[in-house]
Amino acid sequence: TKWTTKLRYRPYDEWSDGRIKRIEDKIKNSHWRLGYHIQPKTGLLNDPNGFSYFNHEWHLFYQSYPFGAVHGLKSWAHLTSKDLVHWQDHGPTLLPGDKQDSHGAYSGSAIPIDDQLFLMYTGNVRDENWVRHPKQNGAWMDKTGQIQKIPTSLIPEPKNGFTDHFRDPQIIEHDHMFYSLIGARRKDDTGHILVYQSPNVTGPWAYKTELHFTDQDCGYMIECPNLLFVDNRPVLIFCPQGIDKDVLQYSNVFPNAYVIGEKFDWETFSFINPSVMKNLDEGFDVYATHGFNAPDGRVLTVSWIGLPDTTYPSDVEGWANCFSLIKELKIEDNQLYQIPVVENNQLVKEELNSKEISPQTKIASTVAKNTTGSILLKTELGEELQIIVDTTNGKILVDRTKMGEAFATDFGTVRTSQVEKNRDIALDLYLDNTVFELYINGGQKVITGRIFPQGTRFFVEANNMAITQHRMDKIF
Ligand code: FRU
Repeated sequence: TKWTTKLRYRPYDEWSDGRIKRIEDKIKNSHWRLGYHIQPKTGLLNDPNGFSYFNHEWHLFYQSYPFGAVHGLKSWAHLTSKDLVHWQDHGPTLLPGDKQDSHGAYSGSAIPIDDQLFLMYTGNVRDENWVRHPKQNGAWMDKTGQIQKIPTSLIPEPKNGFTDHFRDPQIIEHDHMFYSLIGARRKDDTGHILVYQSPNVTGPWAYKTELHFTDQDCGYMIECPNLLFVDNRPVLIFCPQGIDKDVLQYSNVFPNAYVIGEKFDWETFSFINPSVMKNLDEGFDVYATHGFNAPDGRVLTVSWIGLPDTTYPSDVEGWANCFSLIKELKIEDNQLYQIPVVENNQLVKEELNSKEISPQTKIASTVAKNTTGSILLKTELGEELQIIVDTTNGKILVDRTKMGEAFATDFGTVRTSQVEKNRDIALDLYLDNTVFELYINGGQKVITGRIFPQGTRFFVEANNMAITQHRMDKIF
C-alpha cells in the first residue's frame, strides 16, 4: 500500500471488510506476535487512553489505526478486563469523523460519572488548508459500551498565545471540582501543561492556570500529561519533546519523563519541592505512559511500547506496537518504583531448567555484589540480546545490536541504567517473544524494548549469575 495522506485519512466506512481480513490473514502467519502483552488486532496501536474502573470492570483504550501500520485516522479501541491481565478487545469504539474530530479521535482519559463513563479526548480537526484545529471533546459510554459523543467541543480552541499543538486532556476530580490537564506548545516554542476546571464534566470549562511542576526547561511541546498521587505525593508523567540533553539525558527520539513532588498545592497547581526530571523507562521503546488513581487505592499505569516517528519491522505484516504489562506505582526512599501488578503472577507457570526456553518466559536473578554477570538470550540463528550486570559499578547494560532485524539504529542499540554501587542487583525479565521488560531492583529502574529476531526458538545462557526461569502463560 502506498500511504498517501488521502489514504491515511480515508473514512473508516469507505474501506472494504476485505482490508481487515487480509491483514488478519497476514498476521496469522507472523512469528512476532505476543502471548501476554496487549497488541493491536490489526494496524497500529499507540497511546493508552481512558484507563479506568467502571461497572465492575477495568477499561482501557488504545489509539488505533486498524487499516495498516501507519499513523492514520485514529480512533479509540476499547479493551475490558476483570483482572488487568486477560483483556477483551472490542475494536474501535470512539470513532473519528464528526465535525469535532474529523481527522482523528486523539488521546485522552476517562472518569466514571454515575452509571456512565465520561471520556475526554482531543478531536483532531483539519480545515481545507490542512491547518489543525484541536478540540477538547467529551463522550459518554454506557454500561453496554455504547458511545454517545457530545457534538459541541468542551474546549473549542487553544488558549491565547498557544499553537495548534494542544491535546491529550487528563481529567481528574478533586474536592467537587473537575480539572483537565492539557499538553501544549506555546507560540515561543516551549512546552507547557495547562489546567482547565469545571464543576461538571460537560462544562463550562474555564482556564485556571499552568501546572507548575519544574523550573527546568521542557522543550518545545509536552504530550500526554498524567498527574497521579502516590501516598499523597504528586507524580507527573509526561512526554517532553525537543528537550535539551543537559536537562534530561535520553536516547530515544522523545523521552517519557517524570517528576515527583513532596506535596501538591491544589490552589496554585504547584509541586512543592519537585525532583529533577528523570526517565520513566531507560529502554528503547516506551512512550505516552498513561495512568490513574484506581478506586482500590493503587496507582496504575500502562505504557505504549512504541515510539512516534519510528517504523518497526512488523509494519510489513500490517501491525505495530504493543502495551506494557499493567504496572503499579510506589514510592520508597523517595524513589519511584514501577511494579507489574500482582495479578500478573497468575501467568507464571512451571519452573524450567532447560537452555531452550519458551518465547514466553520470566527470568529472575539476584546478581551478587562484587560480581559481574550476564544473561544472553539467543535464537537458533545465533541472534542475541545481551544483558550485562556490573554490581561493583551499579551498571546494567542491555544490547540489542545483534538481536535480529535492525531498526531505530540512529538512536543507538544499547541502553544502560545506573543503580547503587556495591550492592546485590535484582532482575526480573519478562520475555514475550518480541518484547521484553526488565525490572531492576523490584522496579526501581525499568528497561523495556522490542526485538525482531528471524529465529523462532529462544535459548538462555547465564554467566556468573544464577537464574530461575518460569514459563509464562500464553493468553493472546
Ligand atoms: C502521542 C500522540 C498524542 C496524540 C496521539 C495521536 O503519541 O502524538 O499527543 O494525542 O499520539 O495518536
